[in-house]
Amino acid sequence: MRKIFSCVLITFILLVTLTLLFLINRSNDHKDELEKKLDDLNNIDRKITYFKYKYVDRYLDYKNKYPSLTDIDIVTRVNLNLDYPFYENIKQTPYLNKTYILVNKYIFLPHDYVPNGLEEIDNNYTDSAKKLVKEAKYSFEEMAKDAKKENLNIRVISAYRSYEYQKKLYDDYVKNDGKNKADTYSARPGFSEHQTGLVIDVDNFKLGYEQFESTKEFEWMQNNAYKYGFILRYPENKENITGYIYEPWHYRYVGKKIAKYIHKNKISFDEYYVRFIEK
Ligand code: DAL
Ligand code: ZN
Repeated sequence: MRKIFSCVLITFILLVTLTLLFLINRSNDHKDELEKKLDDLNNIDRKITYFKYKYVDRYLDYKNKYPSLTDIDIVTRVNLNLDYPFYENIKQTPYLNKTYILVNKYIFLPHDYVPNGLEEIDNNYTDSAKKLVKEAKYSFEEMAKDAKKENLNIRVISAYRSYEYQKKLYDDYVKNDGKNKADTYSARPGFSEHQTGLVIDVDNFKLGYEQFESTKEFEWMQNNAYKYGFILRYPENKENITGYIYEPWHYRYVGKKIAKYIHKNKISFDEYYVRFIEK
């Protein structure tokens, strides 16, 4: 009886030891595999805080697809979801009512979302009644007043837009231009940052907004908008990141600190969000 017990015990200990050895070996294999992948990404994870280990395979796939991109660009773009087609793998923003909220082709607003504290903009600077979130409204008015001192006239032609209004706009564009074209310049309902109440489209009271780039007011805004917390949201040469054509008339309020950084570093708000806001 004692002999049988000893036999069973020894077999048990042997089995446990073998299982442990197997598991350790497997975990080492995994570690080697991850290390190899990180090597292939030039160990960029050691240099940037927003590297996500769970995306390692996506980073590598993206690098294979776009070998000329820098490693930082690869991480930024994958974190933004740009390895998925627009409007796929979407999620609702966790930052409602924050000035640093990002809304783009992957991050949407609830259809019934109306921002807190919408107020009408001084009608000296609008073509008809238009609303913005209070903080953005006062900053815009200060900016428009200061521009006026230099004989420059900035007028808001579009600001807060409800989900329903954006839907009507988008549906009309699709009817006229087809879905593919409409998607290059108009957001789908729920995906427009106009619904945040932090956005203005502007003209100079004379030319149509599409010609805003050719005006002195545009030049002034290029040099000064950031001092009031506004940024050009859809810049030239950032179309692949923002998903929209260049819109010289569309400005987004993000607050002075963020606007200054974006202005100085010539990045889009999407890139800023990945680097500093997204957890
Ligand atoms: N034109 C911008 C992208 C919008 O529709 O919100
Ligand atoms: Zn706009």
